[in-house]
Amino acid sequence: MATINQNYQKLPGCYLFAEIARRVAAYKEAHPEADIIRLGIGDVTQPLPQVCIDAMHKAVDEMAHQETFRGYGPEQGYPFLIEAIREHNYTKRGIQIASDEIFVSDGSKSDTGNIQEIFGLDNKVAITDPVYPVYLDTNVMAGRTGEMQENGYFAGVTYLPSNADNGFTPDLPKEHVDMIYLCCPNNPTGTTLSREALTKWVNYAKENDAVILFDAAYAAYISEPEVPRSIYEIPGATDCAIEFRSFSKTAGFTGTRCGYTVIPKTVTGKAADGSRVRFRDLWNRRHTTKFNGTAYIVQRGAAAIYTDEGQAQIKELISYYMENARIIREGLKSAGITAYGGINAPYIWLKTPNDMPSWDFFDKLLTEVNIVGTPGAGFGPCGEGYFRLTSFGDRENTKRAVERIKTQLHI
Ligand code: MLT
Repeated sequence: MATINQNYQKLPGCYLFAEIARRVAAYKEAHPEADIIRLGIGDVTQPLPQVCIDAMHKAVDEMAHQETFRGYGPEQGYPFLIEAIREHNYTKRGIQIASDEIFVSDGSKSDTGNIQEIFGLDNKVAITDPVYPVYLDTNVMAGRTGEMQENGYFAGVTYLPSNADNGFTPDLPKEHVDMIYLCCPNNPTGTTLSREALTKWVNYAKENDAVILFDAAYAAYISEPEVPRSIYEIPGATDCAIEFRSFSKTAGFTGTRCGYTVIPKTVTGKAADGSRVRFRDLWNRRHTTKFNGTAYIVQRGAAAIYTDEGQAQIKELISYYMENARIIREGLKSAGITAYGGINAPYIWLKTPNDMPSWDFFDKLLTEVNIVGTPGAGFGPCGEGYFRLTSFGDRENTKRAVERIKTQLHI
């Protein structure tokens, strides 16, 4: 009889956002009249920028003619997109990244989930707590952790608490770790790490021969000039860090799927015979084996954001969501709720009133004012007592949601 990957049985039944969708659907079925406002999953609501639409239309037309039709593209991405990424996000900012160190994909969720495959199972994993659940779940699936303990922590994982007490800047681990997941701007807290804090992490990684897995999916939302946009702004990071970037939140591609991963050739790991192997080469092997490239039409749409017009349009899109963030932050403040984030990220991380457990607050918000958010506990044990709201809603719904919290929620 075929056996299963037993590591899956260590996980809670549902992925966080699937569980939320399930609870909301059940509520909606019982209360079909409820006017639910969804500020839960970080999914965008505004249309793609016009430059992307135009580029995609043109690409569709190319697909209709024999001379311009495209079949399989390079698994790593088309040079027109890779060069635009390289020039705009790295070369122009004084960061040297080679074209063959950039891998275009169908998004950062897949890449941050899949990257652990090229690391040995004996690596010790560190994650900030709370954080995007994909990093931990995929390491559990791979067997890099023990069982979940009663306190909600998985055995064998180093959790790096990140909360209001430490300014959402986790301390370096006391013990040795090999793989360090950092998400900056952070999902869910919406906070960032300073240049100084990131420098400490890079130094730790170099001293410990560890690798930083740096998720910068929300980098385009950073508004404060002193906050680094890329880990490679930190000296030495090209020796020890892999960076993930996405078009999902930058340009509204959650439904069209496009992201990329940067792996400098200088990031290496130890092979069984003691030699050093480039993670970039392993990822290239994996990517070419398991992935056939992001759709040409989508890559054309993504590349369009690097034109002057494209830059202006994504700036406008991001400003729209960040105005929502401001409305939520200020609304919560006037309702007497303490909140963080929302300055350099599209997420607002609020302290649940009266220290209410975060799933209880989820139910309260859903049933009392018909608003969906995300319970902090879903992002890790340190998320307990917190709750996430996203600014990706449309303006009208965002304002209505804030009004409901201010006037109808009993806290
Ligand atoms: C979230 O709500 O945290 C997002 O959906 C994350 C993602 O892009 O997968």
